[in-house]
Amino acid sequence: MTSLHLRRGALFSGLAVLVLLLGQAVAFPVDGDKTVLPVSTELNEDALDKPREVFQSERTGRKSYLVNLGDLAFNSPGLLGPVARQGGVSCGTCHVNGANNSKFFMPKMSSRPGTFDTTGPLFNPKANNLAFDPVRIPSLRGARYLAPYGADGRFASLRDFVHNVITNEFAGPEPSPATLDAIVAYIQDIDFLPNPSLGPAGRLAGKISEAERRGEALFSKPFPHDPSLSCSGCHVPSSGFVDHQQHDIGSGGLFKTPTLRNADFNAPYFHDGRFDDFNQVVDYFDRTFQLGLSTQDKGDLVAYLTAVGDGTQPYERDGAGATLKEINDFSSVLAIAVTAGDKDTVALAVDTIGRELRELTEQYPDRKNTSVSGGEEHRVLARNSLKELVLTLRRIEMAVGAGRTSDATTELRNFRYLMAAAVPALLASAEPWSLFNQDVHDQHYAALRQVMQSKHVSH
Ligand code: HEC
Ligand code: HEC
Repeated sequence: MTSLHLRRGALFSGLAVLVLLLGQAVAFPVDGDKTVLPVSTELNEDALDKPREVFQSERTGRKSYLVNLGDLAFNSPGLLGPVARQGGVSCGTCHVNGANNSKFFMPKMSSRPGTFDTTGPLFNPKANNLAFDPVRIPSLRGARYLAPYGADGRFASLRDFVHNVITNEFAGPEPSPATLDAIVAYIQDIDFLPNPSLGPAGRLAGKISEAERRGEALFSKPFPHDPSLSCSGCHVPSSGFVDHQQHDIGSGGLFKTPTLRNADFNAPYFHDGRFDDFNQVVDYFDRTFQLGLSTQDKGDLVAYLTAVGDGTQPYERDGAGATLKEINDFSSVLAIAVTAGDKDTVALAVDTIGRELRELTEQYPDRKNTSVSGGEEHRVLARNSLKELVLTLRRIEMAVGAGRTSDATTELRNFRYLMAAAVPALLASAEPWSLFNQDVHDQHYAALRQVMQSKHVSH
């Protein structure tokens, strides 16, 4: 192997080594790195942009302890069963920042990127229904307004749905009621992205084009062959564009009406992700319900859907700042758990924060990585400061485990001290030579792709 070794965690975190880079199917196993997930699984961990997450509670104040705890658990593979745990898969792998991961692809479990067979053979053989029936990974934005849950609406309660995901779909251990409450509180706090084009009662507001206005009128017009139906009869604008009902619209069974808010970012569309865009969806309704739409009508409906489905700043740069903010939120949970001597929560927090820190470390390539040149000293300092945080976390966990609360408190103070000034400064000075820099990022992945391809050919 070249100096661009593919040792676990060397270049990517964990099994992301097996990614399908940029959609190119160069699937191959990695030396000495047995993973339980199928080869060519893509988790899209190298994306530079992440969906932006907006919390209801942060509009007026701060997230609660419960919400932060839920966020921790949501991003912890430890919550799920052994297969997910070994593969490093957590809720957040599919629902990135509470939105949908449209790049997620797992052979035998996905029909196309952004879909997943929740009743497939991999994570829990007992939940396998022996059919290949992947469904679209939904965004959880605004989930509190979108009951019932699951594309077929099989659970009225969010809590029951989440319990089933953990224990049944992913064969995880029975979560404590407190953990379940926390995850539910976290999901319920994930808001829709604001959309200035939407006014009261879901009417378009502000500067509206003629096409959008005509589309809005068409949206509430009764269907010519069945006047009891209209788009807005099911996608009710005043209630989040849903009616909380399941309908058979000829797509293969009864499915709940999905929201159209922020839907610009939710492709692929329909329960099985069969459609790429709103044009295809509108064509489908036109055909299926014989709406007799003209080309202009279709364009108007698409313009309207696009206006309704918009959201402010849907993605954000995944820089060190975003991760540090998340780690600070998580360490507020850690602080309370340390004081309470709550070993389980401390272990959860240390595990999840440690994972985030190790992933962050990989963004600052080490000396051995020849695809990055310059700023070596800065990169070394950045990596070392993050490693120091990981070690400090480990000492906190050990102290709490041994009942040495005051030692744990001292270490926690060190952790926060490092997080407050030293670490952000060191990361900032190494940023130009990190994978957060677009050029470095592109060079790094180009080099990696080459290694993967030459290796692929030689096998
Ligand atoms: C491997 C990908 C994957 C993972 C991991 C995953 N989900 Fe999902 N999630 C899905 C898919 C696919 C659906 C759609 C299922 C359906 O429609 O039946 C879904 C649906 C949901 C929904 C329903 C949303 C709605 O509006 O109906 C919730 C809530 C949810 N997941 C929460 C979670 C939680 C909590 C976890 C972790 C315990 C988790 N998911 C882990 C793929 C995943
Ligand atoms: C009878 C209720 C009903 C009517 C009428 C209806 N829809 Fe839907 N709509 C649904 C359901 C149910 C789905 C999900 C289908 C599936 O998952 O297979 C859906 C899916 C969609 C989607 C895809 C959203 C996503 O995230 O997957 C869009 C866009 C949409 N409808 C727009 C419209 C438009 C435009 C009209 C009018 C031409 C319309 N709908 C009429 C119930 C309805």
